Amino acid sequence: MSQDAGALLFVYRDCLFTVAAGVQPPKAGSLVFCRHLTFRPDEWVCEIGAGIGLAAVLAARAGCQVIATDLLPEAVACVKANALLNGVADRLDARLGDCYDPVRRLEFDLICSSPPQMPTPPDRERDDAMAAADNGGLDGWAVLDRVIEGAPAHLAPGGRLVFTLFEFLGRERAFAKLGAAGLEPSVLARETQPFPRLGYERIEHLRAHDMERTLPASGWPSTVERYVIQGLRTP
Ligand SMILES: C[S@@+](CC[C@H](N)C(=O)[O-])C[C@H]1O[C@@H](n2cnc3c(N)ncnc32)[C@H](O)[C@@H]1O
Repeated sequence: MSQDAGALLFVYRDCLFTVAAGVQPPKAGSLVFCRHLTFRPDEWVCEIGAGIGLAAVLAARAGCQVIATDLLPEAVACVKANALLNGVADRLDARLGDCYDPVRRLEFDLICSSPPQMPTPPDRERDDAMAAADNGGLDGWAVLDRVIEGAPAHLAPGGRLVFTLFEFLGRERAFAKLGAAGLEPSVLARETQPFPRLGYERIEHLRAHDMERTLPASGWPSTVERYVIQGLRTP
């Protein structure tokens, strides 16, 4: 890093995080996610798409054994740096890879993810770090579908999958997908947040994929509902 590039820091609860170049700083979705995640000491936790490692560090600080994965090498390096910075490098293992690839054959008590889920028109697809953090394929479900489908094989009996969801992706649809994967769905939290900037840029595309009609039919929404959804693997 050049002397002139500066450094971004993020303070959350009693933890300090560096935000490496190319890694998305925590946004409203990251905070709703962390506010409603609960950890029990000694649990095995997997975070998919860890970004700077906010939730992963909190889990490790709560006494969990954590594996945090991300598709981006710069995010994995950032999680490692933040684990060291917060004294939890012995409990937080950051791994590079796509979805569940870095945790093959492992089982967890909690799998958590705030994955990219902005519906993305084909002509807006890009191959860069910011796109990896935001773009969720045509209808927003591209990564979430894989997180849900892969969860049963990676959850211990009684384990839970917890993820964030924009309401315009469809809460009923999320419940149906969890049910189809054999997981018992529930809503852990629902918060009203400012409508995302990227959503404004894609509003017509979002409306076209808003199967549960959550968006106003015309005009600019000022807010969006954000869910934290759980899928429980019954013991
Ligand atoms: C919306 S950001 C959330 C980051 C962090 N969890 C938070 O709450 O601030 C999504 C993260 O998922 C990562 N990601 C995207 N697709 C992925 C995939 N297929 N497998 C693993 N990580 C992925 C991105 O690189 C990005 O760091």
